[in-house]
Amino acid sequence: MNVYDGLRITAMLERHGYVHTDDIADADIILLNTCAVRAKATEKVYSALGRIRLAKKKDAIYGIVGCVARESGSDAFRKLKDLNFVLGPQSYHKLPEILSDPNTKLLDINLGGLEKFDELPPITKSPLVAYIPVQEGCNHCCTYCIVPYTRGPEISRAFNDIMAETMHAAEVGAIEICFLGQNVNGYKFTDKNGKTYRLSDVIKATAKIDSVKRIRFTSSYPTEMTDDLIELFGTEKKLLPFLNMPIQSGSDNILKRMHRQYSISEYMAIIDKFKNIRPDIQISSDFIVGFPGESDDDFEQTMHAAKHVGYINSFSFKYSPRPHTAAAIMPDQIPENIKSERLIKLDDLLNERQREFNLSCIDKTFECLYEGPDKTGKKHIYRTPYMQPCIVTTDNPTNMATITITSANKSCLHGKIID
Ligand code: 5AD
Ligand code: SF4
Repeated sequence: MNVYDGLRITAMLERHGYVHTDDIADADIILLNTCAVRAKATEKVYSALGRIRLAKKKDAIYGIVGCVARESGSDAFRKLKDLNFVLGPQSYHKLPEILSDPNTKLLDINLGGLEKFDELPPITKSPLVAYIPVQEGCNHCCTYCIVPYTRGPEISRAFNDIMAETMHAAEVGAIEICFLGQNVNGYKFTDKNGKTYRLSDVIKATAKIDSVKRIRFTSSYPTEMTDDLIELFGTEKKLLPFLNMPIQSGSDNILKRMHRQYSISEYMAIIDKFKNIRPDIQISSDFIVGFPGESDDDFEQTMHAAKHVGYINSFSFKYSPRPHTAAAIMPDQIPENIKSERLIKLDDLLNERQREFNLSCIDKTFECLYEGPDKTGKKHIYRTPYMQPCIVTTDNPTNMATITITSANKSCLHGKIID
């Protein structure tokens, strides 16, 4: 979501005559687009702002946009007195106000809904992967999560707006479309004629665009997986066989305390449905370890669930207490050292499974999407349908390539282009 917001902000600043620079000392405006989901991310923002302040030109304006802006509000100005703007995730289209008068202080952390989508100029050139948000905010109230506070209640965008943006992205170069939402599979929009559109309708319409070759979406809430969407995986070949469906914990007791609205057996039944419809599907997940009250036994159940599903690529985090959340004030917080031990154990398991899956890809052939040159500039990185990075040697990288995998390790594949 932040990548998308960043591209729209860039397009807006370009329209005001700005050009991108990586050199802070050269910039006239510097903004940090921020994430507040864990405390560490928020802390990093303030240390980065301190560094920017020292490195920037004296009259350059600087500020923050995104979820930390919303979390901090006017406190940000107290922490850094010369900060110029603090704009929440639904207010960054107001940035031009400060460009016309850099002496004002601009604070807007309102949750204005979908206004930003209409007010921002469209991107002029798309990367090969275009991220298209189908909704803002989230109506689930997971007790650990700050997102409902920072991004507000869930609002689905109009179907026609999503399709217009998707078609435009395809026209200006996108080959893969990734639909975004905090609860992307809960997308639901009813137009003025009473016709209701779900994510499956968005995907079906997108698949009709010839130049779009791959479609995916993130992040899914398990119990919002409706049959129309699951069945689409059986018929729509452009949908990648790779799905992010966060389990968070493998213990029913902890899921209840997290206010996740499913049990482990319900979650596993959804995975089975997918596997029946699309046997080559692979799943990734998010995990939180050390949630308040998590016992050794609860944690073992998480290990068990992770082993059972065999996730091929996951994100795992130590629970981080966040302001405006119910879990932050639960009494039975877990000590940091136990959280760390559990994270190491879980990561070992997840990494081993990732390595195993990567090795199982050797000698297989995939249609892959170009990402860019590797660090040396001599080789090129592609993404397989499972989003694994695959390194190849070629003088002539094409946008899509048929690649046979020749070797693999935990973090990447190597292959040769056969077509
Ligand atoms: N602590 C740790 N991880 C969190 N996440 C969300 N809130 C927290 C928190 N307070 C994780 C969840 C979510 C991912 C985006 O971030 O796993 O799926
Ligand atoms: Fe946060 Fe996701 Fe839960 Fe929404 S569904 S509250 S974004 S973890």
